[in-house]
Order: sequence, then structure tokens, then C-alpha cells
Amino acid sequence: MIRHPIWRPPALTHIMDMMSRVRRAAPADASAIARVYVDTWRSVYAGLVPDRVLINMSHARQSLSWARQLDARRGGHGALVAEVGRRRIAGVASFGPARNPNLGFASEIYTLYVADDYWGQGLGRALLGGAFRELERTRRKSAYLWVLADNPTRFFYDAMGGRRVAERLEPLWGTTLREVAYGWPDLGEALIRVLPGSDRSRPEHPTA
Ligand SMILES: CC(C)(COP(=O)(O)OP(=O)(O)OC[C@H]1O[C@@H](n2cnc3c(N)ncnc32)[C@H](O)[C@@H]1OP(=O)(O)O)[C@@H](O)C(=O)NCCC(=O)NCCS
Repeated sequence: MIRHPIWRPPALTHIMDMMSRVRRAAPADASAIARVYVDTWRSVYAGLVPDRVLINMSHARQSLSWARQLDARRGGHGALVAEVGRRRIAGVASFGPARNPNLGFASEIYTLYVADDYWGQGLGRALLGGAFRELERTRRKSAYLWVLADNPTRFFYDAMGGRRVAERLEPLWGTTLREVAYGWPDLGEALIRVLPGSDRSRPEHPTA
């Protein structure tokens, strides 16, 4: 694995602590996940997507949509949440089969959001690593995700060893958004970077 000369893995105990906060999402989590989703969109995408899109986002609609997704349990799909304090949900990741197989990756991270008051504590790493671990366990060898090119937090994916593998212009909401795809061609190798030192053979994530 190629490492940047100044890159230092974070402390294993910290990673393990953050991983212990990650569990599989359940339909009952839908409302709390929707809250993280809507709040994070509004803080990260302000100025990037039209204001009306952010203003019109509805916690109730998102909640319903997440409840449906989590209830459906479609094959190969999964979702994880990260909890802080007294079981407050502060982050969510969802993943499953690649929606665009032409990119050459088996699976896709559909969403990854951490509430902004919890950024920088390692929850994003734990959720991404947890998703990679779940995908690898289901014999999916690679993964990618799309992120807005102007998203100020997208450099997290560089820090997680993601390679920029594609770009696209998406006509959305009456504007055109530039997106970048980050890919991890080998999830085994990716996990060494994202969860260094953690035991990949650990049993699956606990449920709620
Ligand atoms: C990206 C995001 C998930 C990161 O969550 P987080 O909990 O703050 O990340 P972590 O604390 O786990 O950070 C892990 C590492 O990434 C680095 N990192 C985090 N955000 C970064 C950024 N914006 N730029 C560069 N590096 C970053 C951290 O420095 C840390 O490195 P270290 O462990 O070596 O010190 C969060 O900022 C977020 O929810 N952003 C919006 C998400 C989004 O746009 N999703 C759409 C695509 S699906």
C-alpha cells in the first residue's frame, strides 16, 4: 500500500471506540436518521444546491423514505448508524450494489452523513469502515461513491484512500452539478487504511 510520508494511523483504541458506536440501522431509527440527513444537507450543501431544494426538504418525507428503505431489507443493501451519548444517532451510512456497474466497482456507498457537531471525532471513518467491512463480508470486492465536486468535506474521501475515478455533470433541480466519484478497487486494502489495526474478522455489526 502506498502511504503519504506524513500519514500516521490514528490510535487503534480510538478507532475501536468509534467502531463500537456503529450498529446496523433499524426501521425505528428512520426519524433520527432523517434528522441527521436533512440537517447535514442544509449545512454542507448551502450555496451548492439551489436554496429552494434545501428549504423544501422535509423531515417527515425523509423519515418516511428511510423507514421504507430500512423496512425493505433488499438483498445486498445495508445501512449503519453511529450513536453518541445516550443512543443519539449522529451519523448514517447506506450501501449496496453499484448502481452504475460501468464504473467497474461491485458496490456503492449511497449515503454517508455525520451531524456537523460531531465532525472530527472519527465517526465518518467508523461508518465508512463499517460499510466496507459489511460489503467485503458479502464478497463484494470494491466500492465507489459520488460526491459533489464542490462539497467542502469531500477531501475526507482522499484521507480515506479513495481514488478519484470519474466525474459527471448532473442536470438537477434546474442547474448542473459537477460530481466526482471516489473508488476503492480493493476493499481489503481499503480497510487497512480506513480501520488500521482493527480485526476485520470480527462478527457483523450488532443490530438495534
Ligand atoms: C465527510 C464526513 C462524513 C466526515 O465525517 P467525520 O466524522 O468528520 O470524519 P472523521 O472524524 O472520521 O475523519 C477521519 C479522517 O478524515 C479526515 N477528514 C475529515 N474531514 C475532512 C475534510 N473535510 N478534509 C480533509 N480531511 C478530512 C480527518 O482529519 C481524519 O483524519 P485522521 O483520522 O487521520 O486525523 C462529514 O464531514 C460529513 O458528513 N460530510 C458530509 C457528507 C457528504 O457530503 N456525503 C455525501 C457523499 S455520500
